[in-house]
Amino acid sequence: MCGIIGATSSRSVGKILIKGLHAMEYRGYDSAGVALNQDSEVFRLRSLGKVSSLEELMINNKPKAKSGIAHTRWATHGAPSEENAHPHGSHNEIYIVHNGIIENHDEIREKLKEKGYKIASETDSELIAHLIHLNKTDSSSTLEALIKTTTELKGAFSIAAISSEEKGKIYAAKQKSPLLIGKGIEENFVASDPLAIANITEKFYLLEDGDFAEITKNDIKIFNSNGEPVQREETKIDATPTSTSKGNYTHFMEKEIYEQPDALGNTINGRLGENDVLDNIFGLGSSDAFKKVKRIQFVACGTSLHAAKTARKWFEEICEVPCYIDFASEYRYRNPIVEDHTLFVTISQSGETADTLAALEYARAEKYVGIVTICNVPTSTMAREADWKIFTNAGPEIGVASTKAFTTQLAALMMLALSIAKSQDKNADKRKQATQELRETPALVDQAFSLKENISQITQNISTKHNALFLGRGMYFSIAQEGALKLKEISYIHAEAYPAGELKHGPLALVDEEIPVIALAPEDSLVEKLLSNLEEVKARGGTLYVFGNANSTIEVKKGKFINMPDCGDYNAPIIYTIPLQILAYEVACLRGTDLDQPRNLAKSVTVE
Ligand code: AGP
Repeated sequence: MCGIIGATSSRSVGKILIKGLHAMEYRGYDSAGVALNQDSEVFRLRSLGKVSSLEELMINNKPKAKSGIAHTRWATHGAPSEENAHPHGSHNEIYIVHNGIIENHDEIREKLKEKGYKIASETDSELIAHLIHLNKTDSSSTLEALIKTTTELKGAFSIAAISSEEKGKIYAAKQKSPLLIGKGIEENFVASDPLAIANITEKFYLLEDGDFAEITKNDIKIFNSNGEPVQREETKIDATPTSTSKGNYTHFMEKEIYEQPDALGNTINGRLGENDVLDNIFGLGSSDAFKKVKRIQFVACGTSLHAAKTARKWFEEICEVPCYIDFASEYRYRNPIVEDHTLFVTISQSGETADTLAALEYARAEKYVGIVTICNVPTSTMAREADWKIFTNAGPEIGVASTKAFTTQLAALMMLALSIAKSQDKNADKRKQATQELRETPALVDQAFSLKENISQITQNISTKHNALFLGRGMYFSIAQEGALKLKEISYIHAEAYPAGELKHGPLALVDEEIPVIALAPEDSLVEKLLSNLEEVKARGGTLYVFGNANSTIEVKKGKFINMPDCGDYNAPIIYTIPLQILAYEVACLRGTDLDQPRNLAKSVTVE
């Protein structure tokens, strides 16, 4: 989704800004732009498409400015176009970049038109520049005008602004959309994503909602909404260049798939004892608080939601508590009835997903035992808002398609189930088995990579199709859903997942000689049932690709049976995810899609 970077320095900032935009490309965007405080005017360049097009324009123009702001835009209001790209300006004086959504834009647009402002784009963002310009007429400073402006805005925003009259100065404002300040030597930065400036500084100030900042190359001033100075703690964020480069891999997604043994090791290391999880791994007091938990409400989006759905069985089996699972975008609109002793759990790779954050905010006012967050970004809003948390420690995930985030979320969810069961002294034998299996997971994932050759034999056929069907039962239905999501988002093949038993209630009508049917068939208590469902596919001439155990009795004549590594009941869902990730990746490669940044998608979805 949109990305903001601003820099003020004793050197020229053009390259810094372009590099920052490149580092945020993974978030998904459709246009990019830069505004530089050069000479007496602001020099602006914008282009549709990739940051490299903007970079070419920069190379041709060779700007020398020492301060400026830049942006990657993911269209919400108005089509992707050069006119709608940020930065937006007002009267060649105020220029802004904006992330988020201004909900009362119609009202503001009318007001500005009445005052004679000419609005050049279809965006809600441009209105912010004009409002600052208008408010400046009766303000003593640009900061005051910015603060006044934000009181008129409804919605979520992070803003960076410059004025042609104040060279070397950048203003910033944050409300419900991430923004941080980076501190350098004789240079300072503002960014919506630490990765944008990770190669130039490790020192950050995380702005809080309602914060404003005024930044020069030697000074960082942070204010509250009354314009009073406030202090924010200096935070060290280590996003090393190796974790944000592709290394020897062709795509970030490929690298992130093959990083999973290490990522999972980092999730569990230091958190497991001999036969159990350690106490308080979700934060001080968590083990005590978990004694009261009688039910759990999970809320998440996309892949993170699939993690909750997969893990439900662990909570029901090991903790013996019922679970409710909601799409974050739906949860608060159904006015959920919150029973006593319910724990609220959000799962999010980024920790910034707007729907999940809004659900968390709603839950805060309800009578939950407390809020747990499972997340990969320690500096995220969700991490700060939760009562208890665990970081998945997977390292930056750049590919839009979530891979290592998902498997590490599953490991973290297993540890949450174990923590609750341990606090309530339930099922010590199951806890012991699950703990041991968790420890074996990284090595088993490594073994699953050797399936690549087998998978390559089926990808050519799948890559020529328009549709695919994924089947599973029990927890493996959720893994099938994750497999279908992976395939559709990066290869653009329409893919659906069904619990195999549902096939005969409708989707069987889709099965013909053309559609590939991918089935997950671990030797669990449901495998016999699955077998008869697969017979229904065979009888219709369907092509079956089955992932199952070596001792399986499933016979596949048309299609392929792929032997999975020998895994345990608890770690198998994680291991069965791996071939589906490889399958989606290989198919997308054959189809030549832009798979790290698939069309229309964003990595971190910071709008509702
Ligand atoms: C999946 O590959 C997607 N990237 C998407 O479904 C993602 O999981 C969803 O947007 C939630 O993101 P979060 O985990 O950062 O909250």
